[in-house]
Amino acid sequence: MVPFLADALEEINVRIPYRSIIPLLSTDDQIREELYKLKTMQTRVFVVHMLSSTGSSLFMRAKEVGMMSEGYVWIMTNGVTNMVDSLNSSVTSAMKGALGVRLYVPNTDELNNFTTRWKKRFHEDNPQDMYSEPSIYGLWAYDTMHAIAMAVEKIGAQTIKIENSTDSQPLPVFPNGEQFLKAITNIKFQALSGNFELINGQLQYSVFEIINIVGRGIREVGYWTKEQGLSKVVDESNNKTYSTSPEDLNPVIWPGESIVVPKGWEIPVSGAKLRVGLTISRYPEFMQVEIDPEMNAIKASGYSIDVFEEAVKRLPYAVPYEYELFGGVPPVSSQSYNDFVYQVYLGKYDLVIGDITIRYNRTRYADFTIPYTESGIAMIVPVDKAVNKNTFIFLMPLTTDLWLGSIVLFIYTGITILILEPKIRTSLKGSLSGHLGTIMYLSVFGYRYPRGSFVEGLLQELKFDKSRMRAYQPDEFAEALDKGSANGGVAAIVHEIPYIKLFLAKNCKSYTMVGPIYKTAGFGFAFPKGSPLVLEISRAILNITDGDDIIQLEKKWIGDETCLNNGGISVESNSLNFLSFWGLFLISGAVSTICLLIFAIISLFISPNEINPEEDEGLPIMNPEEDKDLPIMNPEEDEDLPIMNPEEDEEAHNDCKNGTDTSPPLTNRAS
Ligand code: SER
Repeated sequence: MVPFLADALEEINVRIPYRSIIPLLSTDDQIREELYKLKTMQTRVFVVHMLSSTGSSLFMRAKEVGMMSEGYVWIMTNGVTNMVDSLNSSVTSAMKGALGVRLYVPNTDELNNFTTRWKKRFHEDNPQDMYSEPSIYGLWAYDTMHAIAMAVEKIGAQTIKIENSTDSQPLPVFPNGEQFLKAITNIKFQALSGNFELINGQLQYSVFEIINIVGRGIREVGYWTKEQGLSKVVDESNNKTYSTSPEDLNPVIWPGESIVVPKGWEIPVSGAKLRVGLTISRYPEFMQVEIDPEMNAIKASGYSIDVFEEAVKRLPYAVPYEYELFGGVPPVSSQSYNDFVYQVYLGKYDLVIGDITIRYNRTRYADFTIPYTESGIAMIVPVDKAVNKNTFIFLMPLTTDLWLGSIVLFIYTGITILILEPKIRTSLKGSLSGHLGTIMYLSVFGYRYPRGSFVEGLLQELKFDKSRMRAYQPDEFAEALDKGSANGGVAAIVHEIPYIKLFLAKNCKSYTMVGPIYKTAGFGFAFPKGSPLVLEISRAILNITDGDDIIQLEKKWIGDETCLNNGGISVESNSLNFLSFWGLFLISGAVSTICLLIFAIISLFISPNEINPEEDEGLPIMNPEEDKDLPIMNPEEDEDLPIMNPEEDEEAHNDCKNGTDTSPPLTNRAS
C-alpha cells in the first residue's frame, strides 16, 4: 500500500520526507528511539500504517515522549483504525486527537441483530474477556461464509464433497469448483459489512469513514467515496459533486485537545539548527562563500546574505541556523540553480538562499519568499560616444540620395523665389537652422546572454536565433560590448536587472540599460513546500524593503545610486545636443559669412550710383503711384506741410503772388 499512498500524495504535492520502519517485534525502547528521531525533524504529520498491536504500542510511547501534544497530526490507515473499537481504553486514551480511516459499515438491523447474538455468544465463550465488539474482519468472515452458502445453493449442490488430499495434490479439491467460482463471482447481496460484490475477484468497498479519537471513544468526522469525495453524511443519491473541501467534514479535535488545525511543520525545538544551503554565485556582490579551513566553518557575505540575516533578525522568535555549501563550483548552466533549489525538495536543506530567481518551474518543488530585488530582464548596450560626437550625425537620418535631392530642390526653390520676388530674399536670412526636422536614431542590436543563466533558455523560448547568441562571464561583458558585434564582440548583453544594475554601477557612463524586455519575479529564498517560514520571512523582507535599510544594503553591495542614475539610464543616448548639429551650424554659418563678404566686396568696389535703384530693394521707392503711404509734397493738397526755410518760403510765396514760380518740382524728394 505504501507506494500507492506515496504516489497519491505526490499527485497533490504532499511530500513524504522520511519513512520510518518499526519492526513487528520492536521493543518499547526501539520504538521510543525512533520517535525521538522523528521529533527532531520538522515535519509534524505522521501516517501510521501498521497492525493494531504495534500501533497500540506506538501510540503509548508517542504519548510518553510528548508527541501526542498540540501541533502534531497523526493519521492512521485502516490497519489500526479497523481495530480501534476493540483496543484497550488506555491505548485509545493515548491516541486522543488522532485521525483514522476505515471501511464504513452501515448501521443496519441485520448488523444490530448479529452484534447482539455475537456478543452473547462471545461472553459465553470468553467470560473473562472484556472486548465484545465484532471487528470488520469478523464481519468479513461471516459475509464470506454467507456468500459461499449462497453460491453453493445456486449451483444446486446438495453436499459439498471435498476429496481427501493426496501426495501429488496436497490441497483438497472441490469437484464443482468451476461452477462454484462462476456463481460466487456473480453474487451480489446486502451483507453485514455492506454491499457484497466481487469485481475481478476483489470485494468492492465504496464508502470510507474518517474518525477522530476523542476521550475513550471515537467521533465521525465524515466520509469519503470515490464518486463524491468528502461529505459529512453518507449520501446514497449520488447527487453531490466531488469535494475535497474541509468544510465538508466535521471539526476535528487535534492532539492536545486543540481545535486549531496544526501547520504540520514546526521549527525544531530540540536545538537543531536550520540548514541553510548556499552555492557559489558568479556575483560575489550577491553571495560569496568562503570556507575557513581552521575552524571548518562557512563564512558567507553579500547582498543576498545580508537580506537573509536581517530578515531572520526581524522574526518574532529566535531561529538558529547554519550555512552549508552546495556544489562548490561556479554554476555552468542555469540547471545548477534549478538543482540548488531542488535540494529543499529532497530535504537536504531547510531553505536555500542567494541570487535565486523566482521561476515558475522552480515553484513546482519549492515555495519562494517574496522577491527582495527588482525584477525583469533588460539589455546592456554601449553609449556610442563616437557617433554622438560625430559632426555630421545630422546627416544620418536621411540617405545620401535623399539629402542630394533635398539640396537640389532647396536651391531650385531658392532661385525661383529670387527670380519671382526679390524682396523676399531678406526674409530668408538665418532661416536655415530653423528648418531642421526631428532626427531619430535607430539602432539594431544583436542579443547575448550571460553564461550560466536561465536567460539563454528564455531567449530561445522567445524564438531568438541561437547562432546570434554568445555566452560570457560577467567580467567579459565590457570587453565584448566594446568590441561590438562586427569585431567578434556583441552589440548588447541580455541579463537580469539586478545584475545589470551591478554592472552599470561599476561601468558608469560607458553603458546603459535598455528595457526591461521581459518580466521575471526577482530574487527570493526557497523553502520546502508548505513551510510556515515562507510567510514569516516574506513579511520580514517586506519590512526591510519598505524602509531605508534596503537602500543602505544596495549602496554597500551594488553601488552608488548617483552612478547608477548617470550610467544606468543615459540621457545622452536619447537626445541630440549642440555637437550633434555642429556640422549643420558650420555650413549655415559659413554660407551666411560668404554672403556677407560678397555683399561687403560689392559695396566697396561698386559705386552706389551704379546700382539700379529699382533692383535695390534696400532703398525706398519714391513713386507715389506705387506707394500710397508716402507723403505727397503738394502744398495745394496739404496745407500742413512743414516750412523748411522761412526765407525761401516767403520768397516763393512772393514769386507766386507775382505770377512767377522758381521752386524745383516736388516729386522724388525724400521726406
Ligand atoms: N539568478 C539566476 C538563477 O536563479 C542565477 O544567475 O538562475
